Amino acid sequence: MLSLITPTVEYEDSYQSYLDELGSAERYPFTLDFEFNDFATLVARLNNLSLGIDLPDGSVPSTTFWLVEDSEIVGVSNLRHRMTERLRLLGGHIGFGVRPSAQGRGVAKELLKQTLTQAGHLGMSEVLVICLEENIASSRVIEANGGRLESEYSVPEYDGLLRRYAIPIDKVAT
Ligand SMILES: CC(C)(COP(=O)(O)OP(=O)(O)OC[C@H]1O[C@@H](n2cnc3c(N)ncnc32)[C@H](O)[C@@H]1OP(=O)(O)O)[C@@H](O)C(=O)NCCC(=O)NCCS
Repeated sequence: MLSLITPTVEYEDSYQSYLDELGSAERYPFTLDFEFNDFATLVARLNNLSLGIDLPDGSVPSTTFWLVEDSEIVGVSNLRHRMTERLRLLGGHIGFGVRPSAQGRGVAKELLKQTLTQAGHLGMSEVLVICLEENIASSRVIEANGGRLESEYSVPEYDGLLRRYAIPIDKVAT
């Protein structure tokens, strides 16, 4: 069973092994880049971000979720509570990633689905999700969750095209 939870100190070992598996690969969502010495401080930082406490300049509140299977974190998502002009181009409402050893068996689809449910709980009727055009797996995950391709465009920060999808919350796949 795959359960979506908010960060808690009990998962320190699993979180560390998740980071170890990622190695030097780019980390999605961005909160996986947060450095820490003390895990409880990291958990507090993540939960403060969700509450809008100690937000960096220009950031909006965002909730980090862990998708847990058999006491292991197998996926991580981050749900932005509001849109900004920058997020509309880079980032969208939701960033997500799956532990390398858990990829290729539908974990991301479930992760996005459960994160969309949380977006609905926040009162959102539609979310924007952005991925690189070349990221076929990500596009499939988004489309499987009702994503409609809204726009393809380029930005100076990335080579290649970005795809922005709109997902109506009431059309989330069951
Ligand atoms: C993208 C990512 C989240 C997909 O996770 P996942 O758990 O493997 O995805 P799923 O198992 O739910 O499969 C999703 C779809 O992608 C397809 N897929 C998976 N890996 C693929 C690959 N390398 N190339 C093409 N398609 C691929 C699957 O076949 C499936 O499609 P289907 O149902 O039509 O067959 C994962 O690869 C990842 O964490 N990548 C790095 C971070 C990232 O890119 N995040 C998205 C940022 S927008």
